[in-house]
Amino acid sequence: MSDEKTATGLIEIENVTVSFKQKKKKIVAVKDASLTINEGEIVGIIGSSGAGKSTLLRTINRLQGVSSGRVLIGGQEIEKLSEKKLRELRNDIGMIFQHFNLIGSKDVYSNIEFVLLESKKTKAEAAKRIDELLRYVGIEDKKHAYPAQLSGGQKQRVAIARALANEAKILLCDEPTSALDAETTEAVLNLLKQINKELGVTIVIITHELDVVKEICDRVAVMNGGEIVETADTYKLFTEPVNDFTKNLIQKESSFQIPRGVLNEVPGKIIRIDYYNETAERALINETIEKFGVKINILHGKIDFIKNRPLGVLFVSVDGDPARTREAYKFIKDNSARTEVLRDA
Ligand SMILES: Nc1ncnc2c1ncn2[C@@H]1O[C@H](COP(=O)(O)OP(=O)(O)OP(=O)(O)O)[C@@H](O)[C@H]1O
Ligand SMILES: [Mg+2]
Repeated sequence: MSDEKTATGLIEIENVTVSFKQKKKKIVAVKDASLTINEGEIVGIIGSSGAGKSTLLRTINRLQGVSSGRVLIGGQEIEKLSEKKLRELRNDIGMIFQHFNLIGSKDVYSNIEFVLLESKKTKAEAAKRIDELLRYVGIEDKKHAYPAQLSGGQKQRVAIARALANEAKILLCDEPTSALDAETTEAVLNLLKQINKELGVTIVIITHELDVVKEICDRVAVMNGGEIVETADTYKLFTEPVNDFTKNLIQKESSFQIPRGVLNEVPGKIIRIDYYNETAERALINETIEKFGVKINILHGKIDFIKNRPLGVLFVSVDGDPARTREAYKFIKDNSARTEVLRDA
């Protein structure tokens, strides 16, 4: 990989298709997928189970060959690399997994040492590097522990240390926090952010947790049925999704069922208001009440933060004179990102 920044992306996936033959059936796991990932970015891949996420990710380090299309890293087509160049490339690309993939019969030290020895480091060089790595990921006290003696978060830290052992420039993560609890997830995500910022490592991360995407991804690719159906800046994806599959995926998460009892008891028009960007900070509700003299009840509300930018959802009932209620609704609609009437007055 060359050190100079190219005008094109660090990772370029061009019209990649991957198909498998199973008995007599042909499974197309990835269909004509194209994605450019720039140096220093954190890019998420989301989608339903079986969408082809892992298969696509594995084409980046040639763990998975492509049936057609090309993958270029630093401008080099990886399918065409010699054995020697491919080994070098693999040193540049680390990978971590949901279940950590540590070797149970080796201690932390040996789990990391073998990749260093494989890349022709001496025992002494490896020892120095391992100390450095364990300090960096915050588990220097676990140097001689075995995987079974570690918590999930600690195991993932070992896996990260191992993935970065040869000073990787790219880190591929396949559901790295799916086996971890919320608190440990947060800690591992913070470590990944630190690695991205301090070491300039480009990160590609598959996850089914939208909170993970909101917290660390600059951009997101959405996969469905082997295809990348949408690629967008994370904030844009959550505020203005274009593809129907994406809309569904996002709505599922932010959907909120108002209990039937409440629906029956609360008078007036019930609406969902999504607000973001400049509308997020506006005291829209107070303004509407003052302007139109209607009653507004907040039934439920939530503010999310996507890389520190607010994204809010409010469920309210608007009640009063029918004409005023209509005008109030129009005012809310004009001053928010999106509204949806859940029940008319
Ligand atoms: N080695 C293989 N041989 C045959 N079929 C495969 C192989 N690897 C993946 N597939 C199939 O390709 C499709 C995509 O699989 P893939 O693992 O990439 O999906 P995924 O999006 O990662 O799903 P999940 O979220 O469940 O991990 C699936 O139908 C899967 O069964
Ligand atoms: Mg997968």
